Amino acid sequence: MKQTDALKEFRLGVCYYPEHWPEALWEDDFRRMRELGLSVVRVAEFAWSIFEPKEGVFSFELFDRALELAHKQGLKVIVGTPTATPPAWLTHKYPEVLNVTHNGVTLHHGSRRHYNYSSQKYRELSAIITRQMAEHYKNHPAVIGWQIDNEFNCEISEFYAPADHDAFRIWLQEKYGTLEKLNEAWGAVFWNQTYSDWEQVFLPRPTPVHKQPNPHQALDEKRFISDNTISFAKVQADILREVAPDHWVTTNGLFGHLDSHRMNDELLDFFSYDSYPQFSTIFYDKNEENPLADRGSSQTLGTIRSISPNFTIMEQQSGPGGWVNKMDMPSPKPGQMRLWTYQSIAHGANMVLYFRWRTATVGNEIYWHGINDYHNRPNRRVREAGQIGAELAHAGSRIAGTRYKAEIALLSDYDNDWDGEYDVWHGPFAWQSDKAWFKALTRRHIPSDKLYVRSGTTLEDLKRYKVLVYPHPAIMRDETAALLEQYTREGGIVIFGCRTGYKDERGHCYMRPFPGAAAGLCGISVEEFTLIKGTRAATSMKWSGGEEALTGADSFNDILFVESDSVEVVAHYASDYYAGKPAVTKNVFGEGEAWYFGAVFNEASAGQIIERLGLVSPAAGWLTLPKEVELAIREDEAGPLHFLLNYSEQSAELTLREAKTDLLTGKTLSGTVTLEGYGVVVLS
Ligand code: GLA
Repeated sequence: MKQTDALKEFRLGVCYYPEHWPEALWEDDFRRMRELGLSVVRVAEFAWSIFEPKEGVFSFELFDRALELAHKQGLKVIVGTPTATPPAWLTHKYPEVLNVTHNGVTLHHGSRRHYNYSSQKYRELSAIITRQMAEHYKNHPAVIGWQIDNEFNCEISEFYAPADHDAFRIWLQEKYGTLEKLNEAWGAVFWNQTYSDWEQVFLPRPTPVHKQPNPHQALDEKRFISDNTISFAKVQADILREVAPDHWVTTNGLFGHLDSHRMNDELLDFFSYDSYPQFSTIFYDKNEENPLADRGSSQTLGTIRSISPNFTIMEQQSGPGGWVNKMDMPSPKPGQMRLWTYQSIAHGANMVLYFRWRTATVGNEIYWHGINDYHNRPNRRVREAGQIGAELAHAGSRIAGTRYKAEIALLSDYDNDWDGEYDVWHGPFAWQSDKAWFKALTRRHIPSDKLYVRSGTTLEDLKRYKVLVYPHPAIMRDETAALLEQYTREGGIVIFGCRTGYKDERGHCYMRPFPGAAAGLCGISVEEFTLIKGTRAATSMKWSGGEEALTGADSFNDILFVESDSVEVVAHYASDYYAGKPAVTKNVFGEGEAWYFGAVFNEASAGQIIERLGLVSPAAGWLTLPKEVELAIREDEAGPLHFLLNYSEQSAELTLREAKTDLLTGKTLSGTVTLEGYGVVVLS
């Protein structure tokens, strides 16, 4: 049974590792947490050897003493099951639990996440430790919930141990029943891959061309990994539900080859995420124009929200980051930690825990800083946490009941995400277009949601939005197309990019004109197509009825042919041998419109379409903001809360044509208002 009230109360907290510190520090640590306004700690997710120092011998004394002190200070506790880090006695005695790389290298003790999900022994031992911990803490007055494992599929999301090959074979037998069906689904007739015995079937293994497996097999591999991860997590979730039914259950994502939506629906009360906004600063493409940097986390938070409308940030960045062998992140500047905390909250977080209370003095993460430094003396990050704690002590309860509000959604689905990892003819485009749309929207202060199209997606889910952008759904099932047709018929606007609808769910190319299942909805066919990126000069597009350029026929061009009278050619190609041919079309379909954009979107082209559609910020009537400031809206029956987040180090000028109150300070704001560098206000 889901605990629907699990996130009803707003909480701020911190990750704490009592096992890393002299016991003499614990009480002072917990007392100071309370002084800062923190009310919850997460513990134990890597402490298996402490709970079970030898196989079958259990010890709870250390954590009992720590939890008693936490409780004495009024703190609540989230307990992590410790299965992300198997003990040395375990991996030594049962080496079959270890994960193996694609190239056959066994991964050993010394780091974390070196186990596989298929080993029955690992499942058995994980179940035992989970049950022991659940029994022990089920009635503890401080414990409120559980985190299963830690970051499923982080570090590595591929598994090639002997047990994984066996489990994959069983998964395929359940899915296909017969080898004929498997051979058909995997197109095994090509290059003589036909299987005549199940013993011949494996997960993809090294081939003469590095990592060039059969594409249909590669797609099934991802689906298997996802199902296998969920079934591993389910062992623990079931035990926790049975033994500690009053506690809630979550886990922290978001990582590859895992249908986190399904895992959340089937196993969890809500989803959790670990937010390190500087990852977006570090890993962006260095040639990218106008990178979003730390604001890029808002895009990921939209995905988290699509899994769980309100969620927890189990780890919020609170200092510079780095491992001993990885120099990752600079120190957050004054105000940035506060900005990132409100970024998480603005996007739906109802509980935020900083990672971590104090920087570790030993181990791989001695440079991954917490709020407190090694020396444990008050510092500026501790003071900043205290400011946030004081603000949320009064603002938190108003925020907790609200939900993020958006009228436009960017669509994705797992099949295309996973197929696109290997298929470079559409995979890279999805990320490019998604980002382009997100940037174009957020810089116009138009909040957007992410929506994953799944087998259970309903018309009602879609009708919450005026506009849906589904950039490159190469795999398009007839059922999905029918749902989108219904949405459009009833007045919705749907926008596709190139490479839509040419594959079925096995990843076979359809023998029908593109965009396949979406052809009727779009009223066009793709006459011809070509790759552009890296192969030829960029082409250009012009809006019809004039010479105005439509910026960006990027990366790939579908040359369109109009099939239906209801289609308007809104732009045409203006260069190369297909100059004059339709590039962008709009089909009036029922009460709505279906757009087909024959290329990959960039920020400028997404922006031009937004303007053609007349989409504006929901606060445009009373608020003018510079583009550095993000607008996010959370609302409930009592009305909207407008979060304004300044990602720039420079101050920003806002113009409020209506007086509003800042929930964080209680001040009334109107007219021209200066928002300091990295500043945040929440207007109600
Ligand atoms: C992840 C993990 C933490 C820690 C941090 C910093 O989010 O869950 O245990 O390793 O990263 O590296």
